[in-house]
Amino acid sequence: MTGVVDPPGANGKPSRAGAARRQSTIPPVTADTRLPRDAQSILELAARSMFDLFANASEGMMLVDRQARVVWINDQYRRFLPALGFEREEDFVGHPVSSVVQNTQMHQVLATGKPILIDLLTNRAGTFVVSRIPLRDEAGGVIGVLGIVLFDHPETTLQPLIAKFARLEQDLNEARRELASQRRTKYTFASFVGSTPGALEVKRQARRAALSSSPVLLLGETGTGKELLAHAIHAASPRAGRPFVSVNMAAVPDTLLEAEFFGVAPGAYTGADKKGRDGKFKLADGGTLFLDELGDMPPSVQVKLLRALQEGEVEPLGSNKLVSFDVRVVAATSRDLMQMVRDGHFREDLYYRLNVLPIRVPPLRERQGDIPLLIEALCEDIAARGGGPQLELEPDAQALLLAQPWRGNIRELRNVLEQLALRSDSHHIEAAEVAAVLREAGLPALAVTPAAAGPVANPLPPASEGTGARLRPLAQQVAEVEHRAIEAALAHTGDNRTAAARLLGISRASLYDRLAEMGLAV
Ligand SMILES: Nc1ncnc2c1ncn2[C@@H]1O[C@H](COP(=O)(O)OP(=O)(O)O)[C@@H](O)[C@H]1O
Ligand SMILES: [Mg+2]
Repeated sequence: MTGVVDPPGANGKPSRAGAARRQSTIPPVTADTRLPRDAQSILELAARSMFDLFANASEGMMLVDRQARVVWINDQYRRFLPALGFEREEDFVGHPVSSVVQNTQMHQVLATGKPILIDLLTNRAGTFVVSRIPLRDEAGGVIGVLGIVLFDHPETTLQPLIAKFARLEQDLNEARRELASQRRTKYTFASFVGSTPGALEVKRQARRAALSSSPVLLLGETGTGKELLAHAIHAASPRAGRPFVSVNMAAVPDTLLEAEFFGVAPGAYTGADKKGRDGKFKLADGGTLFLDELGDMPPSVQVKLLRALQEGEVEPLGSNKLVSFDVRVVAATSRDLMQMVRDGHFREDLYYRLNVLPIRVPPLRERQGDIPLLIEALCEDIAARGGGPQLELEPDAQALLLAQPWRGNIRELRNVLEQLALRSDSHHIEAAEVAAVLREAGLPALAVTPAAAGPVANPLPPASEGTGARLRPLAQQVAEVEHRAIEAALAHTGDNRTAAARLLGISRASLYDRLAEMGLAV
């Protein structure tokens, strides 16, 4: 290193010729000449400064040779010797590093020639943040490794980082716990309220199904408690400790169902799914897979589902590897699956595969005796969730609810009770308030006779005719009852025919047909 000013040449590189010329002709410049200006010298100076910096700022340094023997340690490193179990330096220096420093990775850096810039090393002397840098000769061959102890006691020196890491880890654990509890069942058989013979029979069949590992098929109208039962079956089954995972065919677009079921291999798509995603079969492994609204499953997915169930394996999209799974399937539908099979809309082979333990869940109108109990349980639940007092229904208000046909079943009953809780000022509910809510919900607030206030209501208005009037052709009597019902519905809806048709549970077209038969303007 000469300390001579040596400005870069036109190409940016130091110009040796220029340096030689100026050395002889130009007098000493006034600029600070202690700094080198040629690349090699700059590098050497930088390397020495960096080394000095590390040597002073770090907690200790050591050097191993090609044979991974310790050949040098600095003064700071010497402090660690007692903690590592050595009284004298000669028991440490000159020995293979792996025999004097437990868990060292220095030999690995020797073998690969790749530095380990940051690592945590834990051994009998404590936990350290370390860095290991290979040393090369002129020809580029690895001739040794420099080990630097950047920090000792990282738990105090790296406190902010470690605290942040611990917080993130805690958040992650909480999210995992939350997810697991959501996947755990929400309901047990105790949540299925009902003591009528119909309700008890459903519970008996479902309890028995829980103990078997065969597929269960829950059949019943919407809002009858099929999903609740699926949860309860899982909770009472030997798989209770494993996940309960549901897929609702009606809620997932057809084009996404396959990915939802079978998963996506990493790299199959660009963008959000680049990393790949587990399918529901994989997520439910060891547990229960609930296929809700099975009747809405598109035919292309039916074929693949059948194959998956037959083979116990799925192939994630974009992968050619099969993933085996172990799930128990519980399916539910409000559609007439047998009819769908006949019409060619549902695969017969899949139908028989899933229809091993069918359970028919009766509609509320077949178990009206359960309504008082249900009202009580639902009001309790609504109050618990909303934080308000529990509703109390006057007897005539309850009678009005008992008289409903409840086409939407328990979900509809629940909605009406929620409306009452939201809208009424007091928690004592009178018949007029119930009638108002029913009217707004588009439900027929059927007249309640004293007899209908009993546990089983008569869904038809009382016939005013005596026995004599009944001794007429049946068709005529039926037509009269129909006319009366249509007139009542039209009066109730202020002549709104769409609403009237909905109340009567018939299509608008058939309401128009009947009106024409009755000789009323259409
Ligand atoms: N037997 C029951 N006892 C208490 N609540 C019920 C019962 N059956 C259904 N429910 C409630 O009614 C609503 C609809 O039930 P759900 O299981 O979703 O019906 P489905 O799947 O048949 O449409 C839910 O809020 C559920 O908790
Ligand atoms: Mg449902």
